[in-house]
Amino acid sequence: MSDRIASEKLRSKIMSADEAAQFVNHGDKVGMSGFTGAGYPKALPTAIANRAKEAHSAGNDYAIDLFTGASTAPDCDGVLAEADAIRWRMPYASDPIMRNKINSGSMGYSDIHLSHSGQQVEEGFFGQLNVAVIEVTRITEEGYIIPSSSVGNNVEWLNAAEKVILEVNSWQSADLEGMHDIWSVPALPNRIAVPINKPGDRIGKTYIEFDTDKVVAVVETNTADRNAPFKPVDDISKKIAGNFLDFLESEVAAGRLSYDGYIMQSGVGNVPNAVMAGLLESKFENIQAYTEVIQDGMVDLIDAGKMTVASATSFSLSPEYAEKMNNEAKRYRESIILRPQQISNHPEVIRRVGLIATNGLIEADIYGNVNSTNVSGSRVMNGIGGSGDFTRNGYISSFITPSEAKGGAISAIVPFASHIDHTEHDVMVVISEYGYADLRGLAPRERVAKMIALAHPDYRPLLEEYYERATSGDNKYMQTPHDLATAFDFHINLAKTGSMKG
Ligand code: COA
Repeated sequence: MSDRIASEKLRSKIMSADEAAQFVNHGDKVGMSGFTGAGYPKALPTAIANRAKEAHSAGNDYAIDLFTGASTAPDCDGVLAEADAIRWRMPYASDPIMRNKINSGSMGYSDIHLSHSGQQVEEGFFGQLNVAVIEVTRITEEGYIIPSSSVGNNVEWLNAAEKVILEVNSWQSADLEGMHDIWSVPALPNRIAVPINKPGDRIGKTYIEFDTDKVVAVVETNTADRNAPFKPVDDISKKIAGNFLDFLESEVAAGRLSYDGYIMQSGVGNVPNAVMAGLLESKFENIQAYTEVIQDGMVDLIDAGKMTVASATSFSLSPEYAEKMNNEAKRYRESIILRPQQISNHPEVIRRVGLIATNGLIEADIYGNVNSTNVSGSRVMNGIGGSGDFTRNGYISSFITPSEAKGGAISAIVPFASHIDHTEHDVMVVISEYGYADLRGLAPRERVAKMIALAHPDYRPLLEEYYERATSGDNKYMQTPHDLATAFDFHINLAKTGSMKG
């Protein structure tokens, strides 16, 4: 495998993961690569978790603060959370064990916009980053690195950390080389415009340069990325995709969008992935993506000749599609670009390219405020991810959701969102299996009927009753009418009876 490590200097640092883990001490702030189940370190997390377990069984403290690009996978976030090896985490997490630790209060979590996370660490908002643990495809003669299946915050972690541990994963296709486009945002006060005008623009290098004197260990691995497969496209997702396409068609009819060259951003998740399956059958051609992750549906669009270019920071592929990507990376690197997440999610570029942002949600209220993160206002699901980056800055922001969750016990449309990530000022279009609500240009009260029409028929009368209460009796303020005494009845019913219906 040494042909993946061309630098003599770094070859001399090869050691086992257990040896490398000795560089990671209790209380350290550790920046790991990884964005969804792609490009995260495969060996160090388990070795660090083992260190934590040993320390705990000897009655000693051992926990790190963990910084990544976004979520990782069971063999990273999962093993570390299970070993109580993490005190605090940022900027996004979706592992079920970690979610339980966060929600039970045994772990801290700062849920941060993905475009902000790297800059905030580099600027020292969280203190000194002690160690960076970065998975790479290859190390060049100069000691520079070719990232693997995600770029995420790797550039920022390599710049900010005192020590660097590299994992060279020979499972990652060597043909990923050439797919990355590494351009660093200059530190303040020397900022300049990011020179990207179109999703397909390449502006940087295919490798990351950094201070190789910081490398303390190089660990060799040969382990697959671990992303969960997407749920099969069901009837409800098909209807949502159909309504999303109806919305796009209405934009074409209004002269605001063309069948040629629609620029998409698509959030992580089952429903957004299903929407891409819908686009396969649509009239849209030469689609471009300026987005955060490449999902199975985008690979299908590329293969079908419907998508010309996809710019992102990471893959988020099912095991089957990850295998395909590994086998055919040489072909896909013609149309896929992986960038640092500060660039893939950069507000300036998002605004410039004029994309349509499409993300999932947990709940939306009758006025169009959207909760993407906290079930019943207090239990985190995953985090805001890049949804804020794209929603606030997109040309059009849209959200797609089934009208109900958990077999009908939960309505996605509620009187008052119990936590608000995307305000009524940012949310333009909401789509469920019952249609789409175009909220643009509508005063809050004009939005209500459209939002209620998206709800499951079982919940519509309850929402109408709420609005009636909010606009009658002592409730006299009519800009955004609420009946505060009953605004959270849906959530209170859920807590008391297991269903929002009560
Ligand atoms: N209350 C409780 N659970 C809810 C819920 C609600 N109101 N809405 C959705 N869920 C649950 C679903 O039941 C499902 O749970 P399961 O996996 O146990 O079946 C899970 O959330 C996923 O929901 P699903 O309907 O399959 O949609 P999804 O995969 O598109 O995910 C979000 C929806 C909101 C969880 C997801 O989009 C997310 O985390 N968004 C925030 C980050 C983001 O937008 N990132 C993209 C930026 S690029």
